[in-house]
Amino acid sequence: MEEIIITNRFFTYDTIEELPSNIQNLFKKATSAQKNAYAPYSKFRVGAAIELDNGEIILGTNQENAAFPSGLCAERVALYQAVSNFPDAKIVSIIITASPESTGLSVPITPCGSCRQSIAEYESKQDSPIAIYFKGESGKIYKSASSNNLLPLIFNKKLL
Ligand code: THU
Repeated sequence: MEEIIITNRFFTYDTIEELPSNIQNLFKKATSAQKNAYAPYSKFRVGAAIELDNGEIILGTNQENAAFPSGLCAERVALYQAVSNFPDAKIVSIIITASPESTGLSVPITPCGSCRQSIAEYESKQDSPIAIYFKGESGKIYKSASSNNLLPLIFNKKLL
């Protein structure tokens, strides 16, 4: 028997001003996109912003449905829009923010398992990492340099 210990590396920032100006801009856009979320059931508004290597910025918000599983998270709305419109561009970073209607969110919103798997898919497609930044309404900002930290022992195309 052997134990394997996997290290997950994150960087945290106390304020948005500690981040480079392009990431600050993405946070502003993701936060402002939250107003376009369609979240009548959860009242949990999520905004995502993606930066491509061609300079384009793509926004996404969560879209819910009365048939609950038919809805989609903000991250995947943004990801699928990005790769549909710019299939040859590389995704450099994705920013995720949320504001629930009832209580504030002082911990960072983390992408759900399906969104992590989707981010990992495009990392393997483009053969380069996607930086993931996430925060709540207040509190620290987290950065992961790749989906590796969020999804160790990932299932990807190398296994097919
Ligand atoms: N949601 C996202 O859009 N992104 C996440 O990373 C987590 C959850 C959405 C899905 C649903 O519309 C609402 O937040 C509550 O789960």
